[in-house]
Amino acid sequence: MNNFDDKVIYQIYVKSFMDSNGDGLGDIPGITGRLDYLENLGVDYLWLTPVFVSPMNDNGYDVADYYKVDPSFGTLEDLTHLIREAEKRGMGIMLDMVFNHTSTAHEWFRKALAGDPKYKDYYIFRKGRNGEPPTNWISKFGGSAWEYVPHLDEYYLHLFDRTQADLNWDNQNVRQELYDIVNYWLDKGVSGFRFDVVNLISKPEVFINDDEGDGRRFYTDGPRVHEYLKELHRETFGRTDNAITVGEMSSTSLESCVRYSNPREKELSMVFNFHHLKVDYEKGDKWSLKEFDFQELKDILNHWQEGMELHDGKMALFFNNHDQPRVVSRFGDDGRYRKESAKMLATSIHMLSGTPYIYQGEEFGMTNAYFDSIGEYRDVESINYYNILKEENLQEEEILRILQAKSRDNGRTPVLWTSEEGHGFTTAKPWIPFSKITGISAEEDLENQDSIIRYYRKLIRLRKENPVIQKGSYRIIQKNHPSLFSYLRSLGEEKVLVINNFYHEEVFFDPEETEVRNLLSQRYQILLSNYENFTLQDGKILLKPYESVVIAIEPH
Ligand code: NOJ
Repeated sequence: MNNFDDKVIYQIYVKSFMDSNGDGLGDIPGITGRLDYLENLGVDYLWLTPVFVSPMNDNGYDVADYYKVDPSFGTLEDLTHLIREAEKRGMGIMLDMVFNHTSTAHEWFRKALAGDPKYKDYYIFRKGRNGEPPTNWISKFGGSAWEYVPHLDEYYLHLFDRTQADLNWDNQNVRQELYDIVNYWLDKGVSGFRFDVVNLISKPEVFINDDEGDGRRFYTDGPRVHEYLKELHRETFGRTDNAITVGEMSSTSLESCVRYSNPREKELSMVFNFHHLKVDYEKGDKWSLKEFDFQELKDILNHWQEGMELHDGKMALFFNNHDQPRVVSRFGDDGRYRKESAKMLATSIHMLSGTPYIYQGEEFGMTNAYFDSIGEYRDVESINYYNILKEENLQEEEILRILQAKSRDNGRTPVLWTSEEGHGFTTAKPWIPFSKITGISAEEDLENQDSIIRYYRKLIRLRKENPVIQKGSYRIIQKNHPSLFSYLRSLGEEKVLVINNFYHEEVFFDPEETEVRNLLSQRYQILLSNYENFTLQDGKILLKPYESVVIAIEPH
């Protein structure tokens, strides 16, 4: 299997990227129109969130026909044109495969509901117990994970919304149908795939109540998941030698992720996990307000870097995606130090070992939405939790504050290309309001000397030019430092030291106090920094607010 450690991937949330036909919704021709911008950024692959026919209850993560492009996004011709045009510019297209569940509007599910036994076995139908659902499992979007179908007197499992019915991967026909879909899109010329919550596909043989939690321990990294991923690999993208695949792993373990992504296992090229994005959850509860725990963030990143390196697992590196609040608002400072902190956060991720992902708008420091009424939210999860928190008697104001910090819609506001009305995204009313924070756009960013976009270009170039950033081993430095996240990457004689100040107070990095005390007495070169001047005082490095420095130590 190929190595993708010199590549950088750009994620496009299609609905919010670029509207080419004035209907307020982003679309595929809109992406094609922005390819030069993406080529200039220097990314290698574009991951498109699902573009298939869907009722859009979960914005396309509820697929009703995996073979057809949803008309709101364009046509098959538009997609094949995009694939060709991207290829001309040296970029590959990755499609998002949602195979844990289908929409309840999918033909298979409709046949299942009609009582056709063949299709009922495509899903997970079970009898209730004493008038209650088969188990007490909770859906990830709130409420029971089972939906009752009166005319069948049975329930079906949905780990997400009730319109997203879980597929029965234990049925070989289901697996074959899914492999046919992957092969169809490979034949259309796509370069790879992102597999949605793919570590949830293998359910237990027996369904029992969970007395300790919401049921996830029974289906996460489930009993036959590795067998199925190996089969998927063999039957589809494993036939080509350069397809790129990434699996989204929900509540997973390091041990499982090593197996999913170690090349010898022949499963996937790399994995996403989310443990580092739960460090602002109060006792594991996303719908709470808590300052992020910096030490915990470092400990988790460190644990995964060390563990994956030791066992040759492959990491997808990221802070942002369409399910997350914007990182500059979350772990940075989206006011006075927006630019500095956006660049620092980017540095801290891009210099790690793995394959970095950039989420649309991140490259010029887009912030959270700061919506101030529930009417502005669109996301099914946010709206469900708004209602749940209301039922728990939280005050409207408090709920809105939680949503402002936690809603997935924070990452889903339209890309701010320009500062004009419509922001270069649309000529119509956008499907979701623009972020309330003004004065940020790609165009304005590029006008400035200290542009964030140009900084991202440099980060990408650094990875491509330096084998030590691609393949070097990783070692954390001053693990418990209260404000710095520093690490060393080493490949033979080559060494790169990365120091990131996560706070606005100035702080010294004193090599004498660290494991790298002798390094700075050698010749070194600043590869990158988010400030104009680098300050060295008495052999110590002074880190300004949210400063990052990337230093190459030159071999003797
Ligand atoms: C993960 C996706 O990223 C998210 O947007 C979606 O709601 C769930 N999986 C369900 O498909």
